[in-house]
Amino acid sequence: MNFRLPELFDKDILRDYVQEHHDNGENSISASLGLSSTDFAQWMEKIHRNAEVGDAQWGKSLLYLCFEGEKLVGLLSLRYNLPQSLSEAFGDIGYGVRPTERRKGYATQMLAYALMVCREKGMEQVILGCYKDNRASAKTILKNGGVLLCETDNYKKGRISQYYTIALGNRP
Ligand SMILES: CC(C)(COP(=O)(O)OP(=O)(O)OC[C@H]1O[C@@H](n2cnc3c(N)ncnc32)[C@H](O)[C@@H]1OP(=O)(O)O)[C@@H](O)C(=O)NCCC(=O)NCCS
Repeated sequence: MNFRLPELFDKDILRDYVQEHHDNGENSISASLGLSSTDFAQWMEKIHRNAEVGDAQWGKSLLYLCFEGEKLVGLLSLRYNLPQSLSEAFGDIGYGVRPTERRKGYATQMLAYALMVCREKGMEQVILGCYKDNRASAKTILKNGGVLLCETDNYKKGRISQYYTIALGNRP
């Protein structure tokens, strides 16, 4: 797989990526940072600003397009400057794979890549959240060395959230 930040010329492949989710009955696009509800040029500006300057609340973050050959198979977002409280509440890493490319091992590879980037950024550990009933995501985390930290009721959505941590080997 290969990974890079999005560019303006990716507009068509991203539109196709979003459409495939909609055709599959999915309105929310994981790790897309509002792609389907924001003007594309503004979205692109935000993604590059997040990467280069950062946001006052969320710090710097990276959103990668994840390709297998020429095909966009997934989106991966990671925040490596988060204050501890936001990290614990929202997690440091998010990912999604397009419906037709699931169960081929891509999310496992994408998370491994994210961990490598976070390690290079000097992070000691990452926190990831997922719904308990999202077995695909939980398995992806466990396959990358995730250890369950806690489970909490998400009262608004009536689902249980799980939080995992993965140690990155950097010393405090
Ligand atoms: C979660 C998601 C990213 C997994 O992507 P993927 O590329 O299919 O995952 P992988 O192929 O790397 O599979 C990882 C593990 O999960 C398992 N898995 C994948 N889909 C599964 C499913 N629907 N049910 C149960 N297990 C599943 C795989 O078999 C694999 O485990 P194994 O190696 O023991 O067999 C993908 O289903 C997705 O995009 N879902 C919607 C968005 C989402 O939930 N994002 C995560 C938010 S926390």
